[in-house]
Amino acid sequence: MKEPEFRCGRNCDVLANLFGYKFHKHDQDWTYIVAEAERIDDYVNAYNSEITDEDTKFSLMEMIIQSLTDQPTIALMLSKWDSVKPLLTKDFELHKYTIYYWGCWDNSDINDCWNITPVMREFWLEMNKENYWSQRYVDEKTGWDLGMVSTPIKEYVDQLKDKTLKILIPGAGNAYEAEYMFREGFKNLYIIDISPLPLENFKKRVPDFPSAQILQGDFFELNDTFDIIIEQTFFCSFPPIDNNREKYVAKMHDLLSENGKLVGVWFNFPFTGDLTKRPFGSTQKEYEALFSSHFTLDVFEESYNSVPDRRGQELFGILKKRKR
Ligand SMILES: C[S@@+](CC[C@H](N)C(=O)[O-])C[C@H]1O[C@@H](n2cnc3c(N)ncnc32)[C@H](O)[C@@H]1O
Repeated sequence: MKEPEFRCGRNCDVLANLFGYKFHKHDQDWTYIVAEAERIDDYVNAYNSEITDEDTKFSLMEMIIQSLTDQPTIALMLSKWDSVKPLLTKDFELHKYTIYYWGCWDNSDINDCWNITPVMREFWLEMNKENYWSQRYVDEKTGWDLGMVSTPIKEYVDQLKDKTLKILIPGAGNAYEAEYMFREGFKNLYIIDISPLPLENFKKRVPDFPSAQILQGDFFELNDTFDIIIEQTFFCSFPPIDNNREKYVAKMHDLLSENGKLVGVWFNFPFTGDLTKRPFGSTQKEYEALFSSHFTLDVFEESYNSVPDRRGQELFGILKKRKR
């Protein structure tokens, strides 16, 4: 992963005046030393209203992140993160170096880093998500890839009589499910993945699949509707922060036509709390609570026909879109 260009803070004297701190121009790491966890809201408000020039914003953001990581509990840190994330998103280019720095990427032991490090890593990856997933394919770190159609999905589609149904497979990866279904006669089938690499593999394996139905892009930016959406190790790729899971559920709901169904398998093991280790699982109870706001759970039970490696670890679901 390429480290962004080094940048250092300036205009600390402006911030010292604003917040009533002392500043000597030889103070190294001044922003990190003076930042106080309990003043994080003041810093965020100043960033939003009073500070306009980039050098001061850069230094102020260093203070904000220091005060974020110093929050007395992780829960408080994550709740404050909700007000910091939009600032970093808006001014991502300006703060690239800072975000990368707090991601502590040269340390493989995350417990030896800062509290905020897992959040910064995830944010960095989110902002670079296409590169992140493509790199996983380049490095062949694709433990999720079955190399064949997932059996619960195969058996579900085998009993579908209407082959004209419009079907989407999001985060399709190498898309063995799409290959199987296409060969079985489902022609109104779409796949989407943020990384072009697995889609290239798919095109080579299934050259007659219509290229207009191979979408490279972000699932969350897709605008269309489908009768069925197939889930296969897509949900588990989103870290359970920033309402990602709620966003997934709402987007699935939006992408389904009236009476549309979300069908597939979800990992049935609890999230360990480690934001650096995919897949991010969940429990049946948590899934039910999450999905029931937007879906009727016609089936949601332990999958009896998972591939041997995943037996006992998957829930199979048929979730019917609820009317708004
Ligand atoms: C864990 S892999 C699963 C791939 C495939 N479903 C399988 O089982 O082999 C997650 C896939 O989702 C893709 N992905 C991640 N975020 C995405 C997004 N926001 N939009 C579209 N695809 C995404 C990744 O590139 C990756 O191919």
